[in-house]
Order: sequence, then C-alpha cells, then structure tokens
Amino acid sequence: MAKMWIRLKKTLLVRHINRLEYRVQFNESYLPIIKERLDQRTEKKLKRLKQKHQRLLLPLELATLDDDAYQEVMTADQIKRLEDAYAWKKRAVRQSHARAVKRNPDDEKKADVKRDARLKQLEEALDNKKQTLLDKHQRHLEQAVIEANRAAYEAKKAELTAQYQQLQTRLETQDEDRFKRISEKRLKKIEPLNELLETKRAQLLKVLAEDPDTEQRLDKLDEKDVLGIENLTMKFGGLKAVDDLTFNVREGEIFGLIGPNGAGKTTVFNCITQFHRPNAGNMYYRNVNREVVSLNAFKVHDVIKQGIVRTFQNVELIWELSILDNMLVGAHSLYNAGFFTQLLHLNKLKREEAVIHAKAIKILTDLDLIMYKDHHPIGLPYGVLKRIELARTLMTQPNLIILDEPAAGLNDLETRALAETLRKIREEYACTIFLVEHDMQLVMEVCDTICAINFGKKLAIGTPRQIKSNKLVQEAYLGGE
Ligand SMILES: Nc1ncnc2c1ncn2[C@@H]1O[C@H](COP(=O)(O)OP(=O)(O)OP(=O)(O)O)[C@@H](O)[C@H]1O
Ligand SMILES: [Mg+2]
Repeated sequence: MAKMWIRLKKTLLVRHINRLEYRVQFNESYLPIIKERLDQRTEKKLKRLKQKHQRLLLPLELATLDDDAYQEVMTADQIKRLEDAYAWKKRAVRQSHARAVKRNPDDEKKADVKRDARLKQLEEALDNKKQTLLDKHQRHLEQAVIEANRAAYEAKKAELTAQYQQLQTRLETQDEDRFKRISEKRLKKIEPLNELLETKRAQLLKVLAEDPDTEQRLDKLDEKDVLGIENLTMKFGGLKAVDDLTFNVREGEIFGLIGPNGAGKTTVFNCITQFHRPNAGNMYYRNVNREVVSLNAFKVHDVIKQGIVRTFQNVELIWELSILDNMLVGAHSLYNAGFFTQLLHLNKLKREEAVIHAKAIKILTDLDLIMYKDHHPIGLPYGVLKRIELARTLMTQPNLIILDEPAAGLNDLETRALAETLRKIREEYACTIFLVEHDMQLVMEVCDTICAINFGKKLAIGTPRQIKSNKLVQEAYLGGE
C-alpha cells in the first residue's frame, strides 16, 4: 500500500515537473521569435519610406542636371528604341533589294540606286525624329537656376534623410521598449515557475529516496552513466543471441556496439527498447528527471516517454510532407495546449506553433539541412534522408538516441557527412548517442567508447584505439588471421 502511494506521488510529481519545464522553456524560446518579428516589421516600414523618398527626390534631382545631361537622361531610352526600329526598316530595304536583283540580274544598277535612295530617306527620317525628341527636352536652363535647383535638391535630400533617421530611431526605441516590456513580462512568469520547479524537484528526490526500489537502483548506475546493461541474456529457442552481456554507457558520449553479422547487436537494441523481453539481466537508465529507472519494467511505447528515441535500419519519413513538416510532425508530442485550449485559445496554440517552428528551423540550420526545408523526401539522396531522420529525433528532446546501422547504404561522402552530424548532435544537443554500426571507419572516427561482441558475448570494451589493437576483436573480424 505504502509502495503504491509512493509510486502515485512520484508519477504526479514527474508529470508536474515536465509541465513546468515545458512552460519555462516555452517562455524562454518565445522571446527571440518576438524580437525577430519586431525587427521584420520595422525593416518593412523603413523600406517603404525609403521608396517614397526616392520617388519624391527624382524630379528634384533631374532639375539639377545641365542641358546636355538632362537631354541625354530623358531621351536615351526613346532614342534607343527609335534606332532599333529603323535598323529593322533598313534591313527590310536591303532584303527586298537582294530579292529584286535575284529576280532581274540585268537591272541590278537600277535596284542599287533605288535602295540607296530609300536608305538615305530612312536615315534622314531617323535623324529628324531624334532631333524632334531632343528639341522637346530642351530646357535652356541658366547656370544660376541649376545652382538654385541643386541647393533645393540637397536641402530636400537632407530633410528626407533626417526624416528617415528620425523614423528609424523612433521605431528602434519603440521596439526596444516593447521588447523590454514583453521580456519582463515573460521573465516574471518564468521566475516563479523556476522556483516551483526547484521545490518540485526537491520533493521528487525525497519521494525517490523513500522508494526502496529507487534506492536499490540508484546504486546500480554510476553518477556518470546514462545506461547500464547488466548480465543481459536473450535466447531464441536454443540460440543465445545475447549471452550474459554487461556494459555501461556514459552520459554525453557516442557509444558504438560492434560485432560480426549475427553477433546479437540488434537484439541488444531490441531488449533496451523492450521490443524483446530479455530472459535474464537488468537494464538501468537515467531518465530526463535524473531518476534511475529499470527498463525491464516498461512497455515499448513508455520507453519513448523516458527520453529514448531510436531510428530503424530503413528511412521512416512521411513522403507526402515537406521536410519541415516532417520535423513538425516529429514534435507533436511536445504540444502542451490541451484539446480545449486548442479550441478556445487559438493565440496560445499559435505561440506554441511558432516556438516549435523556430525549433525545427534551428535544428535544420545546425545540422546543415536547412536548404531542404521545403523539399519533399522523394528525390533527395539517401544520405540526406538519413540525416533528416536524425534531425527529427531531436524535436522531442531525447536523452539517449539509439541508431541501428545509420551508415548502411551510404557512400563514403554521405558517411562522412553523417559522422559530422553525429558529432554536432552530441556537442550541441546534450544527448548520448548509442549506435550499432558495420562501417568500421565511422565507428572508429566518431565513437568515444566501443564495445565489441561476438556470439552475444562481450569481447572487449574501450577506446577506438584499444579496440583496434585487441587480439580477440581482430580474430573475430579477420577469422584469426
Ligand atoms: N526474432 C528472432 N528469432 C529467432 N532468432 C533470432 C531473432 N532475432 C535474431 N535472431 C538470431 O539471433 C542472432 C543475433 O541476431 P542479431 O540480429 O541481433 O544480430 P546482429 O548482430 O544485429 O547482426 P547483423 O549485423 O547481421 O545485423 C542471429 O543468429 C539471429 O539469427
Ligand atoms: Mg542487426
């Protein structure tokens, strides 16, 4: 009875803590979005004003030109058009001359004369038209008037520039004030939330300490570890796919599990995610609340709630959706607004969407995938799809990412890009990566720790260098050569 009471208290506390954490995070990540929106609006207003000023200044600027320059500016386009039109007309004259000569070679002289006359006519007509055009834009401005106009132009320009700067300063201060007000409001919200969070976390620790189960489990996992596999055994009929396997995964590292085909690697993964129920052994995991839990006690879908995500050997994306939408779908469990909130408080929902959208954009940018945001998965290279899948796992803020042969089917270049992505995830997203991989180069390149197994048994565990030089591992891979 007491045990049940403790368990209930724990569940309620964890749920409360999760909600609080979400609200703190939401309030924090909403601020940069507000800032960006304010900036965009200001920029648009300023751009509009600048365009208006340019329209106002143009006639004044024209008035400062001397006659020749003015004529040239005003007539250049039209003269160009006239010249083009007359070039076509001359060409027609030459063509009809050529045809006439072909028809009557004897009359060539006569045709020549006719052509020359016609061309001369056209030339004169063009000159006349040009002249008329130039005359029309004759201003005969006195130098003094031009000087005066220039002064007027400069004065107006200075006036408009001042106006522009004034608006700019006004908008910027306005934005600053506004942003300050909003951030203060948000921060005021965050403060008590954080305080409450502290209290709740302390309460949880107390409850956990009361729980005899946790007490035992806490000893099972070193402070630095996120996952502990202890004497794991999994039999299929008479076959021991995993045989008394023990190893620990440290928090924040990239851990690689290697072994020849059929060594039992995938089976280990399947036991961790409770896809298979192991015959013997324990698996301990430190979840997002830093609570040590026994994975044996969970069902498959509950493992995900503990902050463990996995990708499979094939690509699992929704083909009808764009990459960005695929990311957003990956976050659906993050939406905190309940059904009625969704119905009644559209604003809250919109804000949540904005936060999640910004998060997707950040992840895609961090992992150099932003250029594919509006693409659909169809037609994208397999290596890119693999990386997008990895990016999507980050939407749910995982604690431990499990990858089954992420480099399978990738070419050298794609594998290198994947290695880069894995490193970035570890550095920037504070999570542990546990991968099974055949590609030795990738494993040696990215892993901090490697565990080699064969026939379900542990051969060796250590750094890439230690594993590379290990006799047992060499034998397993090279058949004792
Ligand atoms: N569901 C199952 N039923 C029966 N035997 C299984 C099952 N799953 C795996 N096995 C056997 O267990 C052993 C280990 O398989 P597992 O898939 O874990 O190996 P692996 O190391 O992932 O190999 P690979 O490198 O080929 O992916 C193999 O001999 C396999 O045939
Ligand atoms: Mg496998």
